[in-house]
Amino acid sequence: RAKVAVLISGSGTNMAALLYAAKHPDCPYEIVLVASNNPDAEGLTLAQGEGISTFAQSHKGIDRAAFDAIMQQQIEKADATHVALAGYMRILSDAFVQQWEGRMLNIHPSLLPKYTGLHTHQRALDAGDKVAGCSVHLVTPELDAGPVLGQTEVLIRPNDTAETLAERVKIAEHQLYPRILSAYVSRDKDPEWLVAQVRERAMAQPEAD
Ligand code: GAR
Repeated sequence: RAKVAVLISGSGTNMAALLYAAKHPDCPYEIVLVASNNPDAEGLTLAQGEGISTFAQSHKGIDRAAFDAIMQQQIEKADATHVALAGYMRILSDAFVQQWEGRMLNIHPSLLPKYTGLHTHQRALDAGDKVAGCSVHLVTPELDAGPVLGQTEVLIRPNDTAETLAERVKIAEHQLYPRILSAYVSRDKDPEWLVAQVRERAMAQPEAD
């Protein structure tokens, strides 16, 4: 099985979805580490309770490259083959991203390429969108711009607020992430070839408005 390190900053519900999916014997990955830049992240307690190794260290006062090197050290110690970002709210250094290129996935609460960055749900509502959703993508140096591996659409309701929409999108996220991560690590026989394929497909997609 592929060995996945999950990076979180907060509630860690996507990490929990990945972790519980991994309990099925046919799941092609296992979680070997849950690491956080926020020692108070609720997800750490859940992971510990499930017997998963955890690591927490605040990023405050440490420069980005040095902090990412600390994370890298922990991930290597855990012998991880892949990294899954799950609500990890830190921009990563280029060196770290390059180290994991083709082996690091992220979940983002919008239908990328729409709404990279923060406040995705409020922006979708403000734009009068009829559909929101979530995306799992490969992480590349440009923020939220890596090749999309899978998406789920969530219809916007007339009375939705950013909170009610976020809640439904999260349910979709929890289904999508384990499924895409499983598919990705299973096909991951030749990561360089795969990344090239996915990139080509992403470039062939028409630009979103
Ligand atoms: C999720 O909605 C995830 O898509 C989003 O943060 C939330 C984390 O929730 N990620 C981003 O916005 C990344 N830019 P969780 O901690 O309960 O999984």
